[in-house]
Amino acid sequence: MTTGPGLGDVDWQPHAARLADELAAAGKLTSPEWRAAVAAVPRHHLVPAYYQHTPGGWERIDTASEAGLATVYSNTVLLTAVDDTGSGTVIRSSATQPGLMTRMLESLDLSDGQRVLEIGTGTGYNAALLSHRLGDDRVFSIDVEPDLLALARERLAGLGRRPTLVAGDGAAGLPEYAPFDAVIATCAVPAVPWAWVEQTRVSGVILTDLKIAVGAGSLVRLTRLAAKHAEGRFDPVYAAFMDLRRQAGAVPERMRVRRDHAESRRCTRLDPRIPWNNLVVWFLASFALGPGIAHGYTGEDTARPPTAVWIATADGSWAEVTLSATEDGHTVAEGGPRRLWSILEDTHQQWCDLDEPAWDRFGLSVTPGRQTLWLDHPDSEHTWPVHP
Ligand SMILES: C[S@@+](CC[C@H](N)C(=O)[O-])C[C@H]1O[C@@H](n2cnc3c(N)ncnc32)[C@H](O)[C@@H]1O
Repeated sequence: MTTGPGLGDVDWQPHAARLADELAAAGKLTSPEWRAAVAAVPRHHLVPAYYQHTPGGWERIDTASEAGLATVYSNTVLLTAVDDTGSGTVIRSSATQPGLMTRMLESLDLSDGQRVLEIGTGTGYNAALLSHRLGDDRVFSIDVEPDLLALARERLAGLGRRPTLVAGDGAAGLPEYAPFDAVIATCAVPAVPWAWVEQTRVSGVILTDLKIAVGAGSLVRLTRLAAKHAEGRFDPVYAAFMDLRRQAGAVPERMRVRRDHAESRRCTRLDPRIPWNNLVVWFLASFALGPGIAHGYTGEDTARPPTAVWIATADGSWAEVTLSATEDGHTVAEGGPRRLWSILEDTHQQWCDLDEPAWDRFGLSVTPGRQTLWLDHPDSEHTWPVHP
């Protein structure tokens, strides 16, 4: 992969070699095989441009420039498909941080000859790393966006790489090419699709970001232990991917606080920044809050600093908590059928009572009809049902 159509005269190899060295020095790349893959794949060719938000709007940066090359061969996530919908910006795809990618690829613990399914082709960079490591005929990748998939196919072909690429909803996996030794998802799911487990051979690995709301989850690495059972732990280091979309171009619903219910007011000692500064609390709370959670800062769309944090759920419940506090604490306004801030307070207390567990104390058991989060071990008295 040193030269090829589309690579032009760009002297990218020293940049790729430097990226490999930097990731290795940071402990995000340890095996010689993956190090060789990072040094051999021209990321700028698969990510010819990225988008950067500026006060004037979204700016497109070409990566073949000197500044662009420095960025594209750095451990940086890059936004690669940014759509203006009229009512806001939707990020359809991004090139994952290389260091996160290599950490995930290494954790699959692959051997020569193994076959991998990737959910979320995006730019095709990860598929190129996989193809370099395993060979094109052992790499399968699916993306819900046909236009992105076509671009990835063309760019990979420009490098002489031809993994199997399919446009479609990756939640169903690719049964026609199963079984796989590993399934790696570069988009987040609210629960692990059983199809992924079913299409992984027994003792194979499934690696995905599991969450039902922004920030409310992280990477979990499952092993298929038996025909109808997969189990594994969360990675110690937090990571986040964009949500899996069931359809191309699907735009996430923008939920706002609906102040159409009788409102109650009180004070809270729980600083509203805590659940978002400590994402394990937010993660645990999401199980009680249920699907359809939105949150943000009041005033975030204006030039002034935010004054409060808000949270809302699909059943019309909402809470808003002031960032500033008096000696009685922060002011909470709540409405709707449930008291959402009480759920956050109770979860924070529970997390404190459990000795403030970090991500790696949590694990997940998956069977065809049920998924359960547990603390420390699968038979723990502390479990949470995962919403399908
Ligand atoms: C973070 S990007 C992937 C990064 C990519 N692996 C790379 O190397 O650049 C997430 C991708 O998941 C895709 N995606 C979202 N929902 C999907 C679905 N249901 N099936 C397959 N891909 C999906 C998005 O279109 C997006 O390209």
